[in-house]
Amino acid sequence: MDAQEIAELRELMDYEGRRKGPPEGYPKFPDMPAGRYNSEEFYKLEKEEYWTKVWMMAGHMDEIPEVGSYKLWEMSGEPMLIVRGKDNVARAFYNTCSHRGAPVIQEAYGQAKGGLACKYHGWTYDFEGNLINLRDKRDFVDLDMDCRGLFPVRTEQFGKLIFITLDDDAIPLREFLGPVASQWDDFDFANTRLVHHYTWNLECNWKIAMEANMEVYHVKSIHPDTVDAGLDYRKNVNTLYPHGHSRMVAPTPEAVLAAMPPKPDHIPEIESVGELPRTTTYSFHVDPNLVSPMGQTLFPMLFFWPDGLRKTKYELYWIGADWGDGEMPQEWKDQIDYFNVVITEDTQFGDWIQKSADSIAFKGVPLCYQESRIYHTHENIDRVIGLNKVPDHLAVKQVLGEDWIYPNDSKLRLAESEKMKQAAE
Ligand code: FES
Ligand SMILES: [Fe+2]
Repeated sequence: MDAQEIAELRELMDYEGRRKGPPEGYPKFPDMPAGRYNSEEFYKLEKEEYWTKVWMMAGHMDEIPEVGSYKLWEMSGEPMLIVRGKDNVARAFYNTCSHRGAPVIQEAYGQAKGGLACKYHGWTYDFEGNLINLRDKRDFVDLDMDCRGLFPVRTEQFGKLIFITLDDDAIPLREFLGPVASQWDDFDFANTRLVHHYTWNLECNWKIAMEANMEVYHVKSIHPDTVDAGLDYRKNVNTLYPHGHSRMVAPTPEAVLAAMPPKPDHIPEIESVGELPRTTTYSFHVDPNLVSPMGQTLFPMLFFWPDGLRKTKYELYWIGADWGDGEMPQEWKDQIDYFNVVITEDTQFGDWIQKSADSIAFKGVPLCYQESRIYHTHENIDRVIGLNKVPDHLAVKQVLGEDWIYPNDSKLRLAESEKMKQAAE
């Protein structure tokens, strides 16, 4: 991020702090229909028309560290495996043997030598998914081995992050990430390391769980003893990007920054991370289901996977600067423990909200300006599904015009004209 962008963001933080209401001309959000959280009809639309078209992060190369290392991946609801090839590239395939559909792998993680052998009758595939060996080939008539490889899934990497899409026509990953990609370059995903990875099960719709991480309006109420002191939520700046992505930047109060002890030498840093992630809460949302508050040493990437209309798998990947040999810093274990307290606070109402969402009391969701990232992602969900496919009783109205989507951002124009007015007075 260059100096001008940093200056603009600082300006916008001041603007957010002093504004008396939403920016002039900002759309008022119509209530979002309750059915988006409680209806099988919308859930089916999401599964069939949304999740099948987006890029999903399916893993980290450190999970499959050697040639032939593999992992099972079923978060999308489809049975898949991901394997590191001889060229050190990750490839994803359906975990579906081309003979009679037995699983090629069953373990969460494993290491293959030479190939992946199905345990049912021994058909064996190389790490590029080609069928390379089968027993008693003489008993199959005209079997064309070239046509009997594993069914591939489109895969791309962003450094060591592994993404997949079920859509062969999807735009390339970097284009999908848009302006997020160039900012992520600062976090050196090719060299940072996987520190920790675990999954929680939640009893609510995936969007209920995810949306707790997409606004700071809740901070005063549910994080009074944790996040609140370190984040000036009234100066938070939301930036909306194409494809439903967004970013929030909320400054850490000066007094908190000043009181921070210097970082001990043994804690490594991602040198290329700029000033803002070091002095703010700097968090991205990437559609469909990623939220990541990023920093210069250790940071989490949070994923919210639908596991049924009313169930979510909440998956956390912790990414850290390369700490060299040996154990990671003890301080990071403490940081992860602390963050788990924060996410317990964030997730505490999920099952309660789901119960409400299933009741007649829950008619719809009125969102305020601070919650614009949530509305933005819902608009995008409908666009990806197809506006003509979402019935009126489930649709959100498309009200966020181009004026409010990056690189346009009318807030900046308003902040500047306010400043000019002040200077003239
Ligand atoms: S089902 Fe895999 S070898 Fe028969
Ligand atoms: Fe929170």
